[in-house]
Amino acid sequence: MDPIRRVRKAVIPVAGNGTRFLPATKAMPKEMLTVVDRPVVQYALDEAREAGIEHIVFVTGRNKQAIQDHFDDAPELISSLSRSGKTAQVSELEAMLPAAGTVSFTRQQAPLGLGHAVWCARDLIGNEPFALLLPDMICHGPRGCMAGLIDLYNFAGGNVVGVEQCPPEETYKYGIVGKGDAVPHGFEVTGMVEKPRAGEAPSNYFLNGRYILQPEIFDLLARQERGAGNEIQLTDSMLHLSKNQRFHAHPYEGQTFDCGSKQGFIEANVALALSRPDIGGMVFESVRHMVLTHESRIQAA
Ligand code: G1P
Repeated sequence: MDPIRRVRKAVIPVAGNGTRFLPATKAMPKEMLTVVDRPVVQYALDEAREAGIEHIVFVTGRNKQAIQDHFDDAPELISSLSRSGKTAQVSELEAMLPAAGTVSFTRQQAPLGLGHAVWCARDLIGNEPFALLLPDMICHGPRGCMAGLIDLYNFAGGNVVGVEQCPPEETYKYGIVGKGDAVPHGFEVTGMVEKPRAGEAPSNYFLNGRYILQPEIFDLLARQERGAGNEIQLTDSMLHLSKNQRFHAHPYEGQTFDCGSKQGFIEANVALALSRPDIGGMVFESVRHMVLTHESRIQAA
């Protein structure tokens, strides 16, 4: 087995249009929608940092300037907060600021699919393994999902994907993997298919938007024909790569919320708010009251 090379860089694709959240996303990137009190994209960056990633490559597009500004310094704001004695807010803003030179931005000019977005990062990644985090998917648990992928990668090398189980009738929403032999922190992947119909999926383990990939994926993406949804699909190139390289899956022990859908976005807000020590108790009381009132309204109707 080749020596296992450290994963230093991560790609976060943020070029999508966010049509499902119009009109909220008319003038604002969908990745800047707020879950509790931070933008969706911040969760992916924090998860990558927690897993030891040193450099983030954002693949952006038109009208995404707010993401760049969010991860930049804000000297006027900091001095105004400092003058008013808001030290907690100053510390929080300072802690979230990536160190100079540790974030890069490149653009995906046309919306040709996830595979194409990842391919756009090839020069900035170079010839080394990299992590990929889809920011729409917010992983919530005692530990970030990427840290678990790194555990499995440090044991097995090759390529690693994050997975979770979905109801069998929902496989058409995701990439699905086949389940092979167990290994520490996960299992061998025996196949991959993008958005299979119910009954045609190899299992109910779906790709939850967390990956560690070897750089050979880029040559395959360059030649990848369009697949599901007439888009260049990452899953199709991963399937090709799996003919020559190892692929393992790490089942996430927490829960992933699909913030690309309205339901997932609202669930993420409620779940993350409930888990917050500062507001969790109040939110629990509000949600309980709302559910009880709603239930009695339904019963009375
Ligand atoms: C993409 C991937 C899919 C994965 C999903 C997770 O699909 O192609 O394999 O399961 O992200 O969110 P998309 O959501 O872009 O349609």
